[in-house]
Amino acid sequence: MNNTFAKDIIKGLTADQKHLSSKYFYDDNGSRIFQEIMNMPEYYLTDSEFEILSLQAKQIYEALNFSQPFNIIELGAGDGFKTYKLLEHLQQSNVDFNYIPIDISKEAIDFLIKNLNDRLPGLKIKPKVGDYFEILKNEKQSSIPSLLLFLGSNIGNYNESEAIDLLQLFNQNMKRGDKLLIGVDLKKNPLTIRQAYFDPKGITKRFNMNLLIRINREFDADFKIDDFDFYCQYDAVSGEVKSYLISLKSQTVHLKKLDRVIRFEQNELIWTELSKKYTPIEIESLAQTTGFKVNHHFLDCKHYFADSLWEK
Ligand code: AVJ
Repeated sequence: MNNTFAKDIIKGLTADQKHLSSKYFYDDNGSRIFQEIMNMPEYYLTDSEFEILSLQAKQIYEALNFSQPFNIIELGAGDGFKTYKLLEHLQQSNVDFNYIPIDISKEAIDFLIKNLNDRLPGLKIKPKVGDYFEILKNEKQSSIPSLLLFLGSNIGNYNESEAIDLLQLFNQNMKRGDKLLIGVDLKKNPLTIRQAYFDPKGITKRFNMNLLIRINREFDADFKIDDFDFYCQYDAVSGEVKSYLISLKSQTVHLKKLDRVIRFEQNELIWTELSKKYTPIEIESLAQTTGFKVNHHFLDCKHYFADSLWEK
């Protein structure tokens, strides 16, 4: 794990266009900063998806059209906050299901179990810590139907070909008739999107900067945080938010544990994140390309966000 991180850092920082992957944002500090982001008024994604899963839980359940019992497998469950209302609705309706949250963070899963045991006693939770696909492969042996949850617009972090690879991999590990509920942030007024990422309090900037702090700590590097700034841009045509760190001066950074020195020009960028937005039609074409049939798009009242239900 640490080894791939090291390789990715070297590859990314020695490339012509420097880049680091946003998947490395989420150490303990980064996860905490992401919680702050989800609580910002400008970051509409969380509220929109929460609204969908709260107000349309019944419609989502009906659209599944599953025999009972079934499994709900959540990929990257995190603190489980978004999913709570859906689980609550199912439990109150006496639906027979197992909830299988998967996350690479043991801490997040422990927190989620405790929280759900307190708030939804009797819920059948079978948490798993580790890699999505290993776990999916085992679930495929099970004869009962499965609903996969991939929420929060996490798909937005993947470019088109990566998104296709990932969704095809999901598909290969599903049984015919299994469903995928995928959270996707929609194209909308570009000013709304820009505000969610270029926030006035600079929380997203701290989220990005934390990656340099993490590299300083884990690889004994000497990034001077004050010599970097944050920039992001939304391209309303492609639907891509791209985030960058800017080197404010010409400087060198020593990554001692990796035995590397990295040169930065003044104003040179490190590309850190892609957060892609879709139209419902683009979602449908992604589903089709990856072997799924779209059952329904569940939207919030402002039409900011979609939880799209796909069937294999
Ligand atoms: C968790 C990947 C959905 O791209 O909106 C929030 C992460 N980055 N603010 C997103 C994020 C900057 C987020 N995702």
